[in-house]
Amino acid sequence: MTVDPEQPDPSALAEAARVLRGGGLVASATETVYGLGAVATDERAVAQIFAAKGRPASNPVIVHVADIGQARSCVVAWPEVAEELARRFWPGPLTLVLNRAGRIPDIVSAGQPTVAVRAPAGNVARGLIERTGEPIAAPSANRSNRLSPTRCAHVLADLEGQIDLVLDSGPTAVGLESTVLDLTGEPLRLLRPGPISSRELESALPGRGLVLPAAGESVERPTSPGRMAVHYAPRTPSFRVDSSEELARISDRQGMAVIAIGAGSVPLAPPLTPVFRLETPDEASRHLYETLHHCDALGLRSILVVMPPDRPEWHAVRDRLLRATRPVASSE
Ligand code: TXA
Ligand code: MG
Repeated sequence: MTVDPEQPDPSALAEAARVLRGGGLVASATETVYGLGAVATDERAVAQIFAAKGRPASNPVIVHVADIGQARSCVVAWPEVAEELARRFWPGPLTLVLNRAGRIPDIVSAGQPTVAVRAPAGNVARGLIERTGEPIAAPSANRSNRLSPTRCAHVLADLEGQIDLVLDSGPTAVGLESTVLDLTGEPLRLLRPGPISSRELESALPGRGLVLPAAGESVERPTSPGRMAVHYAPRTPSFRVDSSEELARISDRQGMAVIAIGAGSVPLAPPLTPVFRLETPDEASRHLYETLHHCDALGLRSILVVMPPDRPEWHAVRDRLLRATRPVASSE
């Protein structure tokens, strides 16, 4: 069903809410990526999310809420730090991990005693949660370990036939998955870098320590499998280089697409095939997955990414790229 992203038709939202309340699955946009939603308190409906995605039962999903009040109903305690962060960044791309209340079934959190909650922005996401009247469990609407969808077509390419309804509200505004922050211990831990940067978090929490994941961390952490090394990967074999000089040294570029991210110039000599440039962190965030999906659709032999500089403003984009690609040397 096509809906206007700013003013979604109330009858379309009502229909989607009806499907959700009946135990069905609805894919729809948040400001970050499209999510595959089910009512979070409905264990059987949530089980269908895992089945549709082929998602391991060990990987917990995020619960989407309309506001702080609904978030509080999903957790056993709502600490001051959660209140401060939610007031500052919600609705928006910040997910908070807290201790889980009994009404959220085990399956949502992969049996862990915690739950990840966020209030997404955007009138489709907010309208749908409000009309459903329940928190909505929703991972990104892709097959497990594939790229997150930023358009309805990406959702259908992966999951057509396994979803009761998709609300197509066009491309998502932010394009990268939310920042995930664990508030259950001291110090606070950033589990997944994202659109809300660690700088923004630190400035919202003066005096509070924040543990960051090491750049390119490839250690599999069972507490947040989004951090696994191979995740968010295109189907096309994908490699990375750190500079356009390194790219220039690759002589066989037959069937290769190049995605150059950040400033740096790119040698354009044939037989170099398509070249995509994403210049700023915002542009890269918004278009990275779309560009990777597009390259996948071209059926190329390989994708080569020229990495953006290792600077804080590129942290989230680099995090996703380090998972989606391998160093070029490993292709040889
Ligand atoms: O922007 C987003 O976050 C999108 C939209 C749909 O909201 N959702 C999304 O969900 O990216 P998903 O399932 O693809 O990624 C959720 C991440 C995973 O890395 C998961 O392991 C982590 O959040 N996570 C969920 N619940 C958790 C918990 N209780 N403790 C630690 N990590 C958790
Ligand atoms: Mg995902």
